Amino acid sequence: MAITVQPTTPSFAAEVGDVDLARPLGPDDLAAIRAAFTRYAVLVFPDQHFDDDSQLDFARNFGPLETTVFKARKEHKLRLHENMADVGNLDAENRILTTNDRQRLYNLGNRLWHTDSSFKRLPAYCSLLHARSIPPIGGHTEFADMRAAYDALPDATKRRIEGLVAEHSIMHSRAKLGFADFDEGEREAFRPVPQVMARRLQDSGRMSLYIASHIGAIRGMDDAEAKALVEELTNHATQRQFVYSHRWRVNDLVIWDDRCTMHRGMDFDDQRYARDMRRATVSDVAPTCEQMGLAVAAE
Ligand code: OGA
Ligand code: MN
Repeated sequence: MAITVQPTTPSFAAEVGDVDLARPLGPDDLAAIRAAFTRYAVLVFPDQHFDDDSQLDFARNFGPLETTVFKARKEHKLRLHENMADVGNLDAENRILTTNDRQRLYNLGNRLWHTDSSFKRLPAYCSLLHARSIPPIGGHTEFADMRAAYDALPDATKRRIEGLVAEHSIMHSRAKLGFADFDEGEREAFRPVPQVMARRLQDSGRMSLYIASHIGAIRGMDDAEAKALVEELTNHATQRQFVYSHRWRVNDLVIWDDRCTMHRGMDFDDQRYARDMRRATVSDVAPTCEQMGLAVAAE
């Protein structure tokens, strides 16, 4: 049986049924999933029974996998495979992270609107997040459509951001929460990288905003002006008409296109409930400046 695509919103999110992603997929199913993913930027696949290996294997259909940012810190003890981002609230012994645990404070950065790995020179193409256990209430994830947000910008703003290059670092988003506990290796790995603020998607041909809480500066622009612009664009892009809010079920796999969405995690009682969420992340094909034909000076 072929896969079934059921739109959740007219052009941003859809649910996909009649497919078992833990098994190797035929070329027709894969092509249908890719087509749906190009049209909708968020796909929800309920009831997928992955272990880490089968989740990573499915992710490899979309391209090469990223390595978790926790690897940049020598003393960090990984709970999961190095290709898996551990965005839940459990430690290496599967105990709930305590209030002041560094990993918990670090992951609080996921509450700010962002797109994954825009702080890497070669950023993410897509993220595949699987819910192993969820709290009974709270802990939803919100997604914003940066293509629709771009389309709705006034022409003058589109002209203003054309060719602008922003500096992204994961240390910028963490600094917004007052978090600055980075060692030497992390400071080196997380040096700011340049990304365009408006990009054309090679598959759909659509334009998209490309912004995140990881932005700390815009090249050639005064800091106050840059911060005001990023704030305005973020407020514009996260208006309710551009947002899909996902309420998780155990064994949901959600895939989102990091090139043209932002997302944020929502609050839950993380001292009472375990939330075990595991993310595979696929790299984009080239740095965004290169994709947009912009030559950028080294910082
Ligand atoms: C992520 C992320 C938010 C959440 O997995 O990249 O930001 O709700 N997750 O867990
Ligand atoms: Mn994220």
